[in-house]
Amino acid sequence: MHPKRVLVIGLGQIGYSNAEYMTMKGLTVDGYDISEKAVRRALDDQVIRKRAANFANYDYYVICISTHRPDDMFAPFLDGLYDIASRLAKEGRTGALVGIDSTITRGTSKKILDILGHRMHVVHVPHRFYIHEKSDHGVRQTRVIGGCGDCCVEKAREFYGELLDIPLHPVQSVEVAELCKIVENSYRFMEIAFAEELRMFCDRSGLDFKELREAINTKWNVKVMEARDGIGGHCLPKDSQMFLSLSKNVLDSSIIEAAKKVDSEYRRHISVPAMIPKIHTQAG
Ligand SMILES: NC(=O)c1ccc[n+]([C@@H]2O[C@H](COP(=O)([O-])OP(=O)(O)OC[C@H]3O[C@@H](n4cnc5c(N)ncnc54)[C@H](O)[C@@H]3O)[C@@H](O)[C@H]2O)c1
Repeated sequence: MHPKRVLVIGLGQIGYSNAEYMTMKGLTVDGYDISEKAVRRALDDQVIRKRAANFANYDYYVICISTHRPDDMFAPFLDGLYDIASRLAKEGRTGALVGIDSTITRGTSKKILDILGHRMHVVHVPHRFYIHEKSDHGVRQTRVIGGCGDCCVEKAREFYGELLDIPLHPVQSVEVAELCKIVENSYRFMEIAFAEELRMFCDRSGLDFKELREAINTKWNVKVMEARDGIGGHCLPKDSQMFLSLSKNVLDSSIIEAAKKVDSEYRRHISVPAMIPKIHTQAG
């Protein structure tokens, strides 16, 4: 029996942290990234053993590449993922596990299974990583898992559950797992946009948002978020856009669409200092 070998594909924030955790767990971890800088960092920090020359002979492939357009981090983009799948179809080991940790939209995992010609197991295990709370919300935290078939989930339990010791919440279909992540981030987008709306309302009505928020949040089941610099980073805008595109196919109206309009208006609002009364210039 040869030792289990892992290939982490994409060595950015998620991939690097996965590789670091897996190496710490004693697995043999190699890495691949289109960015020389990302590979160099992983090698220098010894979170990977070596750069993968090709994708042959691994037991577990963990895909952690970005899923936004290279020129627009708010726009979803899955071509890179499909390119990786095409390469895996040619070079990957039959019967190995392909775990998609990157955020994807509904239907992506099954497209990848098709590209692979059903030769490997495919699961989606969306990440909930939060860089600022790496010990509590890093690689080892409860993760939702959905597979393209029962055999895929079985194989994934062995890797993510037993070898990596990650608490898993299995769902019946891979589509539910795909939706989980983009809905979680849409929900958060909506909550922040509501805080932004309230802050604009206060600024234009001569009220103190901070005081209003603190007062509201004394209610046991309400937690109005802070309103800061607009909803940034690549995850919330991109993931909510993925959900919005799906929801538009079946619904006439969307609270997420409204939230996006509010966030755009809020960005314009805070870009004009004269609009913001002195009392509200502190975040939140
Ligand atoms: N960072 C987070 O907190 C977080 C949390 C949950 C989910 N995610 C999701 O995880 C995925 C990765 O996020 P990240 O923050 O690590 O991104 P990142 O930008 O830090 O890293 C992505 C890496 O993927 C590489 N890459 C892009 N296309 C590639 C390709 N075709 N082949 C090989 N490498 C490629 C890039 O060079 C980069 O090093 C995204 O889908 C993101 O939405 C991120």
